[in-house]
Amino acid sequence: MTRRDSIILNHFKEQTVNTDIVWHQSAVARQQRERQNRHRSFILWFTGLSGAGKSTLANRVEELLFQNGCRTYVLDGDNVRHGLCRDLGFSPDERRENIRRVGETAKLFMDAGVIVLTAFISPFSEDRDMVRALVESGDFIEVYCNTPLHVCERRDTKGLYRRARRGEIADFTGISSPYQAPLSPDLEVPTGRRGLEECAAMVVGFLAERGKVPAFGGLAANAVSVGDRQSNHAEMSS
Ligand SMILES: Nc1ncnc2c1ncn2[C@@H]1O[C@H](COP(=O)(O)OP(=O)(O)OP(=O)(O)O)[C@@H](O)[C@H]1O
Ligand SMILES: [Mg+2]
Repeated sequence: MTRRDSIILNHFKEQTVNTDIVWHQSAVARQQRERQNRHRSFILWFTGLSGAGKSTLANRVEELLFQNGCRTYVLDGDNVRHGLCRDLGFSPDERRENIRRVGETAKLFMDAGVIVLTAFISPFSEDRDMVRALVESGDFIEVYCNTPLHVCERRDTKGLYRRARRGEIADFTGISSPYQAPLSPDLEVPTGRRGLEECAAMVVGFLAERGKVPAFGGLAANAVSVGDRQSNHAEMSS
């Protein structure tokens, strides 16, 4: 076990639930739900700067999967902060709690047999690892939407970068709060320099290659091959 794994494990041990609370085994197992749905359930975790394209890409991928008969749901950062996490701000502790709640929610959806796509900046590696540690290996797929800060700032779809530069927004990721890019994401998507359809095909192709979803016609064929993806990765990290 690595040092980081033990930190995460200790974090959960500290938060062990009251021993009077006993888990009630569900009558229908996740595997039965998956068989009925004819696909595996898992968490597809999109991370990246604000404006990187997480929501846009997650929604497009969801649409493609949905059209092909998969049961899907997108948990989106902005939407979750309207309800489940409306009491949380953007300090590191509150961001951590935000991600913890979303991770637990995503785990429930996954248990329900659904492919959960999440679109959260999730700037801290430790918080993303915390969610990874919540589920079995292979159930958490980290997708890094790699759009450089200057491109996100130029897009400024919500006008937030402009306001953050003026000092009107505290703890803004990339400006006054750090973004820790994944060092070894399961998939890195060049959302800063490739179009939406190409990026969506990369994600869907990756899932089909890994046997996570049934291969479907033109989509998987349009996706870049593993070799191409590795060279993409090398090119981007250089
Ligand atoms: N390849 C791409 N993938 C996704 N979005 C892209 C791509 N190329 C350009 N875009 C554009 O980039 C913008 C991304 O905005 P989006 O709201 O999806 O970002 P976000 O990462 O969800 O940001 P936030 O964290 O603020 O919610 C959109 O205007 C989208 O059309
Ligand atoms: Mg978004």
